[in-house]
Amino acid sequence: MTEEKIAVVTGSSSGIGLLTTVELARNGYRVVATMRDLGRSGKLEEAAQKAGVRDRLDLRRVDITEFDSLPGAVEAIVRDHGRIDLLVNNAGFSSAGFVEDTQLHELRHQMETNFFGNVAMTKAALPVMREQRSGHIVQVTSVAGRAAAPMLSSYAASKFALEGWSEALRIEVHSLGIRVVLVEPGSYDTDIWERNLVIGKQALDPSSPNKERSQRFAEFVRSQANKRRDPGEIARLIARVANDPNPRLRYLIGPDARMQTWLRALTPWRIYERIVARATKID
Ligand SMILES: NC(=O)c1ccc[n+]([C@@H]2O[C@H](COP(=O)([O-])OP(=O)(O)OC[C@H]3O[C@@H](n4cnc5c(N)ncnc54)[C@H](OP(=O)(O)O)[C@@H]3O)[C@@H](O)[C@H]2O)c1
Repeated sequence: MTEEKIAVVTGSSSGIGLLTTVELARNGYRVVATMRDLGRSGKLEEAAQKAGVRDRLDLRRVDITEFDSLPGAVEAIVRDHGRIDLLVNNAGFSSAGFVEDTQLHELRHQMETNFFGNVAMTKAALPVMREQRSGHIVQVTSVAGRAAAPMLSSYAASKFALEGWSEALRIEVHSLGIRVVLVEPGSYDTDIWERNLVIGKQALDPSSPNKERSQRFAEFVRSQANKRRDPGEIARLIARVANDPNPRLRYLIGPDARMQTWLRALTPWRIYERIVARATKID
């Protein structure tokens, strides 16, 4: 009998994390679905029930910014399930505002979640994967980890950092049988655009010199809402990557993500930056 595969997903209460949890369970994984507030598990439980996989989930509370608690949380998972075959570092949020309007503590908060939180979760999982001589680590980064947009400097910084860190890690652990993968979505319809969007306090202040530009950018973002895609696409991609013994380093997903990276690679920088400034209406 083959051993049951164990997956751990962060940020399972919503969006990509929720759908990935259900998709992995459908693919035969036992999924440790973690979230920072177990009071928000209702949507996941409902979706899992509907898909007939509720009994494949183990719900646990994990806030990825509570760094000191993470090794203990991962040890408890290994104690109860015996192993970890897949870690999906999905939890994250987006912080918006012009650099001039962003305070250092706001940038730090963004980095603590999107970068240090994912780093700490990964470091907690590495010992068991090293011992097993196997394991996949999927980092849900973003096209913003390849090409930065104005107003999203903090978010881009956190994703660029995670991409660079993960590139190095991938090479370090390949010979141990551990595979590190970057999944880089474009725009998908989740709570990241509203409920979990953090707008810098100063950006909203009427005295901000960027007030009008911020408003125009916000209108641009709203105008794109109906173009956002079904995040189920990402969940299916992650399940596919998880089952691939030799996955690539990067998986860009979404036509907008492909278009943006293609433009950035092929267009001279001076032209590219004009296109971005005009498209996002900040000039
Ligand atoms: N949607 C997109 O267009 C898009 C594009 C590129 C990349 N991404 C990336 O995809 C990932 C998932 O985002 P999403 O789009 O699915 O947005 P979402 O619906 O807002 O989900 C974000 C998840 O992260 C959780 N979370 C936030 N901070 C956390 C913390 N400190 N500890 C534990 N969990 C935390 C949230 O928990 P709560 O439910 O408690 O808030 C939620 O479960 C993020 O890393 C994001 O950067 C999304």
